[in-house]
Amino acid sequence: MKSFKIPGTDLESSTLAYGCMNIGGKWNSPEITDAERSTAYNAINAALDEGINLFDHADIYVRGKSELVFGELLRQDPGLRNRIILQSKCGIRFAGDPQPHSPARYDFSYDHIINSVEGILRRLNTSHLDILLLHRPDALVQPAVVARAFDHLFKTGKVRWFGVSNHHAGQIDLLKNYVDQPLVINQVEISLLHRSLIEEGILFNQSTVGISGSSGTIDYCRKHNIMLQAWSPVAAGKLFVRGRGAPDALIQLISDLAGAYRTSVEAIILGWLTRHPAQIQPIIGTVNPDRIKASAMVDDIELSHEDWYRLLGAARGESVP
Ligand SMILES: NC(=O)c1ccc[n+]([C@@H]2O[C@H](COP(=O)([O-])OP(=O)(O)OC[C@H]3O[C@@H](n4cnc5c(N)ncnc54)[C@H](OP(=O)(O)O)[C@@H]3O)[C@@H](O)[C@H]2O)c1
Repeated sequence: MKSFKIPGTDLESSTLAYGCMNIGGKWNSPEITDAERSTAYNAINAALDEGINLFDHADIYVRGKSELVFGELLRQDPGLRNRIILQSKCGIRFAGDPQPHSPARYDFSYDHIINSVEGILRRLNTSHLDILLLHRPDALVQPAVVARAFDHLFKTGKVRWFGVSNHHAGQIDLLKNYVDQPLVINQVEISLLHRSLIEEGILFNQSTVGISGSSGTIDYCRKHNIMLQAWSPVAAGKLFVRGRGAPDALIQLISDLAGAYRTSVEAIILGWLTRHPAQIQPIIGTVNPDRIKASAMVDDIELSHEDWYRLLGAARGESVP
């Protein structure tokens, strides 16, 4: 798999990242079974075999078990840590944390950020994260407090680089005003079925607008050298199966283009993201080794300008205005 330098960092990353949300077993069980463990190891090893070197976590994934199972693998193969980029996220708290009556909430307080990272490092069995992201914007954020937490994590060597997830341009701008370290990543949902950040630039000032406003987030990130990562890049599987939200014409076009480019349907879907000049990094989440391999074929294609818009038109059910 090809690699590139994540802008503003010394990190050399693969085209695709592997998302670890679907490894580590069931959300409603405290155990990781042997079968779930081998599913996780097979998926991680398949990703490594394809040259994927960036692994995306969050403290909440499968209530910590995604990081735990990954940390077990790192313990078994200590050399692996230096060959990969480890990224995790914090800031979401479930209902019941820490008291039974505590509500679900976002929390960018100093203590929560620091304690979350301590837990992440313990579960992953590592001394440091390469990248820490703030998972979802906290409406009650105090940017100076985030800055203090980031400073502590950076100076103690626990986190090397920082970023955000699901943040719009104004929210990133506010944080950047306070935080000393560069914000190098914004992880957002983008796929052919979730195009709002792309559509807002196309539909701006159109009377047909089907979006609630324009945040200019993609252009902001391009301007400020903030890499966009796309979560759910294959729309959690909905782009492969008729009747799950993807227009039939889109599914047909993806299949036709896979034939024309002599590649996989996964590569066409992911190629729609990598073709975008913002250098969007898809974070794939399949645990199926064959699908991981099919996804890696994205490296061998570059969609034409025309085909990129063909896919956009088929996804929206009409051509651009
Ligand atoms: N920042 C955030 O707020 C946020 C939110 C959600 C996710 N994420 C990150 O993004 C990563 C990816 O998210 P995701 O798992 O939703 O992404 P995804 O890659 O769009 O979807 C993966 C899902 O699609 C299914 N799938 C993949 N290929 C398929 C095919 N050919 N046919 C049928 N089903 C197929 C997979 O099932 P199989 O495993 O059976 O193949 C899996 O359930 C996560 O792991 C996490 O790291 C971040």
